[in-house]
Amino acid sequence: MCSIIGYSGNESAAPVIVKGLRRMEYRGYDSVGVATESENQIGVKKGVGKVADVNSKMNLEDLPGKTGIGHTRWATHGKVTDTNAHPHPSNSGKIAIVHNGIIENFEELKEQLKKDGYDFKSETDSEVIANLLQKNYNVSKNVKETMITTVSELRGHYSFIAMFEDGQLAAARFHEPLIIGVGKENYFLSSDVLGFIEQTDDAVYIDNGQFVLIDQKNMQIFDFSGKEIKPQITKVSKEFADVYKGDYAHFTLKEISEQPETIFKAGENTQDAIKVSSDYLKHAKNVYLTGSGTSYNASLVAKYLFSKYAKIKTESIIASEMQFSPDSIEPNSILIAISQSGESADVLEAVNIAKKANCKIISIINSLTSTLARESDIVIGMNCGPEIGVAATKSFTSQLIILYKIIQELSIEKIEINFQEISTSISKILEEHNEIKKLANEIKGISDIYVLGRGIHYPIAIESALKIKELTYIHAEGIAGGELKHGPLALMDSNVFVIIINPDDSTYHDTLMSAREIKARGAKIIGISDKNSEVYDFWVKLPKTDELTYAICETIPIQLLSYYAALEKESDPDYPRNLAKSVTVK
Ligand code: G6P
Repeated sequence: MCSIIGYSGNESAAPVIVKGLRRMEYRGYDSVGVATESENQIGVKKGVGKVADVNSKMNLEDLPGKTGIGHTRWATHGKVTDTNAHPHPSNSGKIAIVHNGIIENFEELKEQLKKDGYDFKSETDSEVIANLLQKNYNVSKNVKETMITTVSELRGHYSFIAMFEDGQLAAARFHEPLIIGVGKENYFLSSDVLGFIEQTDDAVYIDNGQFVLIDQKNMQIFDFSGKEIKPQITKVSKEFADVYKGDYAHFTLKEISEQPETIFKAGENTQDAIKVSSDYLKHAKNVYLTGSGTSYNASLVAKYLFSKYAKIKTESIIASEMQFSPDSIEPNSILIAISQSGESADVLEAVNIAKKANCKIISIINSLTSTLARESDIVIGMNCGPEIGVAATKSFTSQLIILYKIIQELSIEKIEINFQEISTSISKILEEHNEIKKLANEIKGISDIYVLGRGIHYPIAIESALKIKELTYIHAEGIAGGELKHGPLALMDSNVFVIIINPDDSTYHDTLMSAREIKARGAKIIGISDKNSEVYDFWVKLPKTDELTYAICETIPIQLLSYYAALEKESDPDYPRNLAKSVTVK
């Protein structure tokens, strides 16, 4: 997703901005740019590629001045080109902007601006902001008035930072994140605290419908009508600074390897929130679950758990689908929203729909300072530390652990979950990574992989297929074991691999039968199980345990397999092509 950053202080701005952009690389992007102001002149450098590459080609850091803005772009409107990269200067070159989000009425605004004599160089929606600011500034000659008029004309979801030729920064937030970092003698503006955490841990979270004016000495926040708002400084958790890869080649591998510890932290210190949530859930008329991507897959596991162990019927709705069936949300129900970032636009929209129906919102989130956290009645923290790899790994298992803790409270026949055993089993699987590396070499040339499971292992199969897709670009699909004969069997031949999730629980015999049916059609079988079988071409050994522990443990070899296969295919496991960590646009 796009990241925006701004700096005003007593240091040279461009190197600070480049460093901040590198910290936010995980959000995913295709082009980069920086603009600075020096002696009332704005200079811009931008291009397609990674921060380090564009910086070494164009020397972004050499731009002079102590005020600047920067951007990483994830194309939505207009191709990936140098011209479409941000910052975008206004026609006069006296204002430059960086923008994250979508301006829905950009065509209308562009038409009007063209009639007023403005030209457009890029195909982006963002460039209208620069010229609209210029047009309004020409009338008022006042930055605050310019911002009030401009935000009243923009429709859509956005956060943007504008730099004026006198070195003033102005930034606005409307449904996209924007945070101010307050240093000793400097101010930062950023989409994420990671943009400035090395310099300061004092942050001000700008609310929706607010804008901020910053110069080298002052910061003022206003609502969109121009009323001044008192800034509230929050201390940002220092753990955000802990985002280095350490000894690991990639964040993804680091994050997979952290799981024996992160499962103990999930829901830690939020035991009360878990108890209160369970009480609400016990008495709720209707319970809905929502999320996107991996977080949605966690909601599918939850649906199974609620019905099996607590006899509570729930409905899992993909966050982006909620708007198409808002009437299916019964008033006064409970919505459990699951999101690592707490910033996924689809999830926020789903929450909005549920709130309109007077639902209570219980959320399971990693980023406790996110918009979702602020929109929720109860927040349960995953506490798994920053997840930088675009493909979710440790956040998924943390989500499951929290759901297990809720189920423990709600279960009719009290279930005991041995978290120590889960941790030990994950560690044992991680120790076998060399075996999984060999398997990665086997699958690297394959074009289709299916992952089959039953019961609780079916949503895990769906999540596993998502990991394979994201990291290896191999087509992958999760199949419910019993559905095999209703279609997927037609696809089985010697060109495909099928991963059979088959621990020794109530699903074991039926799933082994599915494996035989597939084998008879010539496909290669990878069995993930605590019991070996002659039907498996490759066996990934699981420690012997119980249904709930299996569900967590069996995801680990598939995360590792996807990671190593990405390396075999020479693709970047941390930043898969075309994807972004946090999708803050619809
Ligand atoms: C993006 C990421 C996925 C993630 C999904 C939901 O699509 O690439 O890895 O699962 O967003 O993110 P969230 O932060 O809401 O859990």
